[in-house]
Amino acid sequence: MNDSAMRRARESDLAGADAKPPAAPPCAVVIFGAGGDLTKRLLVPALYNLARVGILPPKFRLIGVDHRERTIEDFRAGLRESVQQFAKTRGTEAGEFDAAAWARIENAVDYVQADFNDPAGYKRLSEHMSTVDRDHGTLGNILFYLAVASRFFAPITLSLAASGLMQEERDGTPWRRIIIEKPFGTDYASARALNEQILGVLRERQIYRIDHYLGKETVQNMMVLRFANGIFEPLWNRNHIDHIQITVAETVGVEQRGGYYDKSGALKDMVPNQLFQLLSLTAMEPPNDFSADSVRTEKVKVLDALRFPDPKKPGESAVRGQYIAGSVQGKPYKTYREESDVEKGSMTETYVAMKMTIDNWRWHGMPFYLRTGKAMTKRLSEISIQFKHPPQVMFRDTDIDRMIGNRLVIHVQPDEGVSLRFGAKVPGPALKLGRVWMNFHYADYFDAAPSTGYETLIYDCMMGDATRFQRADSVESGWRAVEPLLQAWELDPYRNFQNYPAGSAGPQIADEMLAKDGRAWNRMTWKPTEEKRS
Ligand code: BG6
Repeated sequence: MNDSAMRRARESDLAGADAKPPAAPPCAVVIFGAGGDLTKRLLVPALYNLARVGILPPKFRLIGVDHRERTIEDFRAGLRESVQQFAKTRGTEAGEFDAAAWARIENAVDYVQADFNDPAGYKRLSEHMSTVDRDHGTLGNILFYLAVASRFFAPITLSLAASGLMQEERDGTPWRRIIIEKPFGTDYASARALNEQILGVLRERQIYRIDHYLGKETVQNMMVLRFANGIFEPLWNRNHIDHIQITVAETVGVEQRGGYYDKSGALKDMVPNQLFQLLSLTAMEPPNDFSADSVRTEKVKVLDALRFPDPKKPGESAVRGQYIAGSVQGKPYKTYREESDVEKGSMTETYVAMKMTIDNWRWHGMPFYLRTGKAMTKRLSEISIQFKHPPQVMFRDTDIDRMIGNRLVIHVQPDEGVSLRFGAKVPGPALKLGRVWMNFHYADYFDAAPSTGYETLIYDCMMGDATRFQRADSVESGWRAVEPLLQAWELDPYRNFQNYPAGSAGPQIADEMLAKDGRAWNRMTWKPTEEKRS
């Protein structure tokens, strides 16, 4: 069998692998912040990818809203350029430009100039939307996307509601939905206040709080891996697992986002959202079905049971750091404090590592170690499940002086897949133990799908499926879980803070934190194929 025949044979084993999802229902997508980076780099490329695979709604309009005056021609040309530059196929560089798919979008693009705080802009938008329905058959369905700075989330939502644009009939036809970007609040109190404001004018089912990590293929695979296989779940608890590590490391520094980042820092930017999403999918109980409420209820239960091991001293369960000059994969980086829009004496962390426990029957007492940072040695997101060591007794009179704990690693990015480490006998007369890996790479089994990570999420919203979006309670629970640490850091900004050179794996105190527990972080530069012998 040649390679492609083998792939086809493997794929035919996959139930429903060929089933193409249906096209989304007719609708208009209105993007606030149409001139921004997110729109250019991710949102419009995602819509283009939906057009390429034929699931963009048959009747579709895309309306950009922003404060700058632009002609439709300029706006369309700018979007075409960004799609050519940014639309990527998962795991590859930009594929060939699909002019026909782009034409479907380009011909559907409109632009409305509006200042987000000016009622006249909403009036113009409202008038425009009534012509859209009439002329393009979008049936009154509208998806609003707030790709704007977080201070505009409430004002735009309230203005849209006041202008009648969010009005649905009782049964949700036509539907009006809104995707709200992150950061959703800057702490527990502000997230609650924002929820209160928007829930004062909208129903929860109209609100889609996005966290783009939930659009990543391996993240979505987590539930399948755990619950559609018989071998993992019986071991998936504190009786068999020693600890779990979740890493989201980035090689980028703060780039052009110093103004936002310096007020936020690694904890707020990444932990209550991305890291807790990975954590809750790893730790949740199996839901009864895939409905948005069943899944989200199980996830929120995890967040509500999260604890710092010593609740009286949350600051002792976390360390942080800031990058200083160094080089990342050969590229020189300057010190964080010298980046543009960053305070000269900034104490904002660009790295955080923390230890948490989940106070329920499945996980009680077992540590979860989380870490995330910028300007790290490698771009890497992974969940690593470290199983307990087997007993040594049978091997104590042999050359084997140390048993190997099995490790299951779920690679979220960049190379999506799953690896399992186990012990095997090294060939030869002596009884020696080698560490070996079984590796599954997505790319070996499945054709790469065009993906920015946003396709699934935008499509889900058009289909009315909120499973992969955050419900009000889960955003609040995420913030509530980190609140004690935020308060501890505010009282003592220097505690457990250490610089690290750009291009390293983080500050040394992060290693010391695990060493105190007799454990160590997985090497970031680790590759299963490299680790051949113990
Ligand atoms: C964003 C954070 O949510 O996620 C950024 O605000 C971070 O600081 C980004 O760089 C990482 O996303 P990804 O998809 O590149 O891993």
